[in-house]
Amino acid sequence: MAGYLETAVEIAREAGALLAGYFERRVRFELKGEFDLVTEADRASEKLVVERLLTHFPSHAIVAEEGGGHETSSEYRWYVDPLDGTTNFAHGFPMFNITMGLQRAGEAVAGVVYDPIRQEMFSAERGSGAYLNGKRIRVSGVRNLGESLSSTGFPSRKRSHDVNIHFYYQVAMASHGVRRTGSAAIDLAYVASGRLDFFWEFGLMPWDMAAGVLLVQEAGGRVSDMRGAPHDINSSPHVLADNGSLHEPTLAFLAEVFQGKLRMPMPDMD
Ligand code: IPD
Ligand code: CA
Ligand code: CA
Repeated sequence: MAGYLETAVEIAREAGALLAGYFERRVRFELKGEFDLVTEADRASEKLVVERLLTHFPSHAIVAEEGGGHETSSEYRWYVDPLDGTTNFAHGFPMFNITMGLQRAGEAVAGVVYDPIRQEMFSAERGSGAYLNGKRIRVSGVRNLGESLSSTGFPSRKRSHDVNIHFYYQVAMASHGVRRTGSAAIDLAYVASGRLDFFWEFGLMPWDMAAGVLLVQEAGGRVSDMRGAPHDINSSPHVLADNGSLHEPTLAFLAEVFQGKLRMPMPDMD
């Protein structure tokens, strides 16, 4: 497929090394919203990725989180998160990545998530499977919510309107646990590689999900919105990504929480 994935892998490795350098030196952060952090590293990584994509694919459109994108009428469109996990990054917590996903006429065709600290390159191409450092990965075989390990995230934007803490509490009480990695693309890559059994989050942006959703699908998992409707990165900010076996049980569990049927009441606080 015209070397799209190979080029994305090469660019992600270069941007990852750049991010790792900034991480070593520690950078100051600025606020772009109430709790929404941005650093010099986000901007430098975006500049590098966009420049490289434009060199290789000058006609393609690019949507990039920090605004450095490039609009064209091409049916090819790259979604770029130059640093996913900025809050972790700014605090020196080593969990972040650079991620890029390519769509052709609205369908995902290739994607990468690169964690430069662990030097883990997750990659997928439609119809060719999902890989970690070149080795095929698959979702887990866990079938029972009670035996699952999952993850979720909480938005930086409009956090006070977010209901996810209720979902977090219910799932955490009913399973082996819920992790909060602080990086949605890593969460999706970990579902694809079987390290997590499912992931859900409210309010994600297309660049958070473009590569990770393809990774999960190519690794044999399922992705929908949180009520089970088909997922589209541009119109479904609420996502459920799982190993497939857990899809129906998880949707049923989430539906109960949506209806306010709480299996675990809040404990007495005294
Ligand atoms: C954030 C991370 C986080 C998720 C937030 C995202 P950013 O992306 O993916 O895990 O919970 O919703 O905004 O701002 O670090 O690129
Ligand atoms: Ca992000
Ligand atoms: Ca980001």
